[in-house]
Amino acid sequence: MTTKQTQPEVAVLDFGSQYTQLIARRLREVGVFSEIYPFNRYKELLDRDEIRGVVLSGGPSSVYEDGAPDIGDELFAEGKPLLGICYGMQLMCRKLGGAIEASTNREYGPATIDRAGKSRLFTETPGQQGVWMSHGDRVAALPDGFTPLASSGSIPFAAAGDETRGYYCVQFHPEVVHTEHGMQILRNFSRDICAIESEWSTTVFIDSTVAEIRERVGTRKVLCGVSGGVDSTVAATLIDQAVGEQLHTVFVDNGLLRLGEASEVERNLNAFLHRPVLRVDARNLFLNGLRGVTDPEKKRKIIGNTFIDVFKSATTDLGPFEFLAQGTLYPDRIESVSVNGPSHVIKSHHNVGGLPEELGFELIEPLGELFKDEVRRVGRSLGIPDSLLMRHPFPGPGLGVRILGDVTADRVRLLQQADHIFIQELLDSGQYDKIWQAGAVLLPIQTVGVMGDKRTYEAVVALRAVTSQDGMTADWARIPNEVLARVSNRIINEVPGINRVAYDISSKPPSTIEWE
Ligand code: XMP
Repeated sequence: MTTKQTQPEVAVLDFGSQYTQLIARRLREVGVFSEIYPFNRYKELLDRDEIRGVVLSGGPSSVYEDGAPDIGDELFAEGKPLLGICYGMQLMCRKLGGAIEASTNREYGPATIDRAGKSRLFTETPGQQGVWMSHGDRVAALPDGFTPLASSGSIPFAAAGDETRGYYCVQFHPEVVHTEHGMQILRNFSRDICAIESEWSTTVFIDSTVAEIRERVGTRKVLCGVSGGVDSTVAATLIDQAVGEQLHTVFVDNGLLRLGEASEVERNLNAFLHRPVLRVDARNLFLNGLRGVTDPEKKRKIIGNTFIDVFKSATTDLGPFEFLAQGTLYPDRIESVSVNGPSHVIKSHHNVGGLPEELGFELIEPLGELFKDEVRRVGRSLGIPDSLLMRHPFPGPGLGVRILGDVTADRVRLLQQADHIFIQELLDSGQYDKIWQAGAVLLPIQTVGVMGDKRTYEAVVALRAVTSQDGMTADWARIPNEVLARVSNRIINEVPGINRVAYDISSKPPSTIEWE
């Protein structure tokens, strides 16, 4: 569901760049609401007053290739400010009468640009600045009305614009951190050129989302799966505000949760949501479904399908339900669904890619346009306590994707105990809040150890802890050695069946947060 915003917005048209989501992310960081639209849906942007400007993203194609992503001329007839980035620059210039050519060699990495003249796009940025380039083509001749705004050693038009029409374009990527003044450039475009003064606010988001859910749902019923995590709790609370008793919440104990988590979650949700949560014990169903399955994507699909089956059968007496609500976030959607082909599917996150096609419900995803930190802000405005909001993210398929190889009841128990020790030590040492996400992973191998003069041949656990802003990129957490030492000692001493602990020191990319 796209949340209807009554607040001003800068739309981002996606031409397939790996950086597209960063553009929206940075715009929101400067306090401007922003959403991404695949380029071939550009018509949805037309005649929408709240869209005050449009960014045309980069992309891997060449504008002169057959079948290169293109848009009609209507967008240019609207008179809204436009900012073309990389491919977006080339497309804009070509459509407005300029010329594009292949660069003699592909330019990738840091570059320095020199500004030319005065421009609103570069307000409060120095005459010379470092930027990040990644392009194979370049603009050879500007369209009528455009003037050069910056050049680099290798290209004459590193930035250009038509100040009268509010059209700007840059060959470099202002959205990546390596562009020193990229945030200021995006701020200048959205705040000054698109004239958006108001801050993107959680209050406006809550009001408009609640109103939209109410209108869409009418007198019908909504089923919401809750996990006790931040996202589903915030989603359920919004829907609760919108439709009250028409909402039924279900918590499925899939047997793949953390140690003791099922009861804790049930207690918290009952206390917080002001209405009883239906807890369904489906542990055996999930474990049976997963028996013998080792492929991560198959596991996700099985878990996703079992969730839906359980929802359906557990709630027939409460229904009929026309809507299924989920706490899906923006990054889940970006990573799960390829926008028209160019970006690759990395993992199908169960609450998106793994859903059966014949779902039988209409989906409500009120957080589908938000990043995690924004969900936490919304949650705070809704009065949800920090103890719940600051919980680390936990994947929908739970320990199912942290047990590499066979998922059996015994292996679940083993991992639960190791994971519990890890999290407890992070909390006790004050590290938990510094970390985006942490957990233990059970490896599908055994190693030799020695305990009390006896040879052991037992399982290995890897500890994973990362720092991140939104889960899209992440770095391994620099947990103090003494904390790691304590965790390792405790796991090996207290969990029979584990004789080795490893710490994962990979960042994302090129690795991912979860091992599967
Ligand atoms: P990766 O492993 O892709 O994870 O770097 C990014 C974030 O997504 C979470 N994750 C999932 N969440 N269903 C979910 O609901 C899934 O299948 C899934 N896989 C990964 C992961 O925990 C991290 O926060």
